Amino acid sequence: MKIIMLGAPGAGKGTQAKMIANKYGIPHISTGDIFRANIKEGTELGRKAKEYMDQGLLVPDELTVDLVVDRLQKEDCANGFILDGFPRTISQAEALKNANQTLDFAIDVDVPDESIVSRMAGRRACVGCGATYHIKYNAPKTEGVCDVCGKELILRDDDKAETVQKRLKVYHDQTQPLIDYYKEVGILRTVDGTQNMDDVFAAIVTILGA
Ligand code: AP5
Ligand code: MG
Ligand code: ZN
Repeated sequence: MKIIMLGAPGAGKGTQAKMIANKYGIPHISTGDIFRANIKEGTELGRKAKEYMDQGLLVPDELTVDLVVDRLQKEDCANGFILDGFPRTISQAEALKNANQTLDFAIDVDVPDESIVSRMAGRRACVGCGATYHIKYNAPKTEGVCDVCGKELILRDDDKAETVQKRLKVYHDQTQPLIDYYKEVGILRTVDGTQNMDDVFAAIVTILGA
């Protein structure tokens, strides 16, 4: 099962992708998570990616495409994968196609811009394991502390209000065209992302099959 997640920043791609990965036993590959791990480790890739991410811009294809294509060649992807945050442009979609990755589903988690802002402002991420929470919709048991590993929860650097606006603009300009692209390929499925997390997940399972 080869799946990609589409949707605006904060639509719930990561939240749903983790749940899908667990249920179907396929790896969850998030380019945003890979970049953030590199930033944390202080790698050259992390240093370069951070310049763009902090401005709400896309990281250039030269730093992104090979990384994903190589990752998909690893053995754990043999039975499928769930890609979250890639492809994000038509050129990235073409690169995936040229790498002979035939996708089964492109799931668009549809959430209007008005709802996005409060989701981002309330998101908290664990500095240790990367688990994601929301102060209102998915609160940790103890405020500011990760349920999974006990480390501190922080606001992501690019979740500041002005950066969120920029990310939304970049999404509409560069990523939204993928919706029509995958509609034409015939694999687009849209779910209403304004529902609660479990209902969004149930809608996705209906599409993928139990
Ligand atoms: P990335 O990490 O991919 O960020 P994004 O696309 O902006 O999306 P987010 O991770 O912010 O949101 P999400 O949809 O995963 O939502 P989440 O589940 O967390 O990319 C970051 C940056 O990296 C980019 O800006 C770019 O610079 C770079 N980058 C990454 N990939 C790239 C690529 N391919 N090419 C170039 N550059 C790239 O949910 C959000 C919040 O809402 C959470 O708090 C969650 O708990 C809550 N929530 C989730 N679902 C629900 C629900 N149903 N109801 C209520 N609350 C909910
Ligand atoms: Mg995410
Ligand atoms: Zn944690």
